[in-house]
Amino acid sequence: MLLIDSGRPRDYEIHVQKEMDYLTSDWSEQVDGTKILTFGLGQRDSDRLAIRELCAAAAKSMGEKKAEIYALDSSILLEQKEKQHWRDTLWDITEGILLGCYHQQTYKKTSHFEPTIFISGICTERKEEAQAILKEAEALVESICFARDMVNLPGNRLRPENFSRQIQEFVRTEGVEVEILDITALRKKKLDALLAVGESSAYSPCMVVLRYLNNPDSSERIGLVGKGVTCDTGGYCLKPGSSMMGIKGDMAGGAAVTGAIRALATNHIKTNVIGVIPICENRISPGSLLPGDVIESYGEKTIEIGNTDAEGRLILADGVSYAVRQEGATRILDVATLTGAVVNLLGFSIGGVLCDDEEWFGRFEKAYTKSGERYLRIPFYDEHKKMIESKIADIKNVGEKYCGTITAGLFIRAFAEGVPWLHLDIAGTAWVDTPVFAFQSQGATGASVTSIYHLCKGENE
Ligand code: BES
Ligand code: ZN
Ligand code: ZN
Repeated sequence: MLLIDSGRPRDYEIHVQKEMDYLTSDWSEQVDGTKILTFGLGQRDSDRLAIRELCAAAAKSMGEKKAEIYALDSSILLEQKEKQHWRDTLWDITEGILLGCYHQQTYKKTSHFEPTIFISGICTERKEEAQAILKEAEALVESICFARDMVNLPGNRLRPENFSRQIQEFVRTEGVEVEILDITALRKKKLDALLAVGESSAYSPCMVVLRYLNNPDSSERIGLVGKGVTCDTGGYCLKPGSSMMGIKGDMAGGAAVTGAIRALATNHIKTNVIGVIPICENRISPGSLLPGDVIESYGEKTIEIGNTDAEGRLILADGVSYAVRQEGATRILDVATLTGAVVNLLGFSIGGVLCDDEEWFGRFEKAYTKSGERYLRIPFYDEHKKMIESKIADIKNVGEKYCGTITAGLFIRAFAEGVPWLHLDIAGTAWVDTPVFAFQSQGATGASVTSIYHLCKGENE
């Protein structure tokens, strides 16, 4: 629980010092017995990433000490900041502290306690505004933690049906409508590309549709489409054993879409969003896809299968066409742990973006700047579209060995029916074996939840 301080007793305090080196720390004790952790900010007081990292690192140290009630003195961080800057800083403090408190669920049957944390050093006339910022940021962090939890769950504890139920449970918020299409509905609606990947598994595919329509003054409907592969073995193009550990996290895109929509609804943001999350396993069984197969799709294009491990783009193709044709999305953002190629290019801290519309990309750029996440826009041209032309079908699900991130994106774009399209490849950023930033912990990161939230929120306050 995070509260604005009103002088209540605490066992521990966190003080910040500019004179100490960045992220160094020191313990001391006051005469009244309060234990003080002093954390160094260096001269990075106007660096948003530094503030989030510091607060997360401090919260982690408090967790190690099992501190149940503590206060962070925010005065050094907030000092002399003008209005917007002050709000952003308080937001970063909140996000940093709460993410620093995140604990991955383990199966060791030990429980974690919830600390009570006060933020002190906020002047009286700003307390009301501060309360609102805390509340909004807290809802967003809950969503990041949901995405982390889903990705961290072992594959045998998150089958497609279970994932759809978890989503339904989490978005149970005023204003969000949930529809779950089970396998019978998928067949009836001819979501053939999703069925081609998922139907052969003993755990049937499904698709979740979320509707949050809260801006009657606008005709815009943002379609958010997230990959929900709860287990990606590669299918008959089986992954090597050494690449298998990460296969349970292949639904990070779907979790991010869910998280963003839940936070928008909790904070009553005025916007219209449709979430579409195709969910399945990519497994081997007698009915599974084989390289060389030709399948149908919801968007009425035939697809030649070059590689069964390129399953994400197949289910997203159906998800994207469905968002536009059935749900009336006027623009699309799709998000997925899609290619190993993006990990080779950008590593674990930068997501890949492809986009075919300058205005739509401009809005995303503003959004991720606000969130503090890192992305790089990757270009594409007609020569890349040629790479996924098929001789026997309308399109092929893989190109040659080059430009893997571009061809994967362009495959999905072919199903976006011409609406402005933006694509996030978070294969590198959704999971960290070694945390890159102090507000991460080993495992799932909750990548792209905050950027998608800010994108949909736009300039709305
Ligand atoms: N889910 C994987 C991509 C992935 C790779 C995610 C590494 C996280 C970490 C995706 O379904 C996949 O297997 N992609 C293939 C495509 C290839 C067969 C064209 C890849 O990138 O190797
Ligand atoms: Zn795959
Ligand atoms: Zn995959």
